[in-house]
Amino acid sequence: MTEATNFRTMDESTTEDWQRVAQSASGDSAGLADLVLAMLERLRGSSLCMPVDPYEHSLQTATRAFKDGADEEIVVCALLHDIGDLAAPQNHAEFAAAILRPYVSDEAHGVVQIFQGYHYFGQVGVDRNLRDRFRGHPSFPRAAEFCAKWDQTAFDKDYESMPLSAFEPMLRRVFGRQPYASNQTPCAEFMGFRVNLAPGGTAPLGTRPARRA
Ligand SMILES: [Fe+2]
Repeated sequence: MTEATNFRTMDESTTEDWQRVAQSASGDSAGLADLVLAMLERLRGSSLCMPVDPYEHSLQTATRAFKDGADEEIVVCALLHDIGDLAAPQNHAEFAAAILRPYVSDEAHGVVQIFQGYHYFGQVGVDRNLRDRFRGHPSFPRAAEFCAKWDQTAFDKDYESMPLSAFEPMLRRVFGRQPYASNQTPCAEFMGFRVNLAPGGTAPLGTRPARRA
């Protein structure tokens, strides 16, 4: 492991310090996969009064996607789509989409991020067709398929889901991808570290858009 830097304030940090930080952050896809797996495990047992806990719901959604022949990145999206149930219950789709964004296609990112209330809004007094405002979004057809076939059906206590270990190699392959090489997210690269240039991203202004890998 690279030795830690010693600055007490950013103002006294050096270029060499940031090179070490960037190398550490950009070379740890295994650590990111480990963290995401631990977050999934944390969902186990937190029932939220649902028929199955979010851990089982996640496995069940991913299993259904896998058995229907979905692309590997969509299976991983299915596995992680509710990973923010505890950390960000009010915006959990956005939370999951942010984690996945550097590693999946724009279409898959949109599947996780856009409107998913069609199958229950009618039961809570909300217009189920609110999703219509996203018609025309490139991810809409696949998001609708995702919700109808895999997400809304994944509350069956009697369903036999594949274990998390079956999905772990897929998850590690997706998080092992070069960040932002699978999509058109504007990004910049400095010191070997790629950062998001899209609104809300973290790249410093004026950095040069990265070349596609
Ligand atoms: Fe879900």
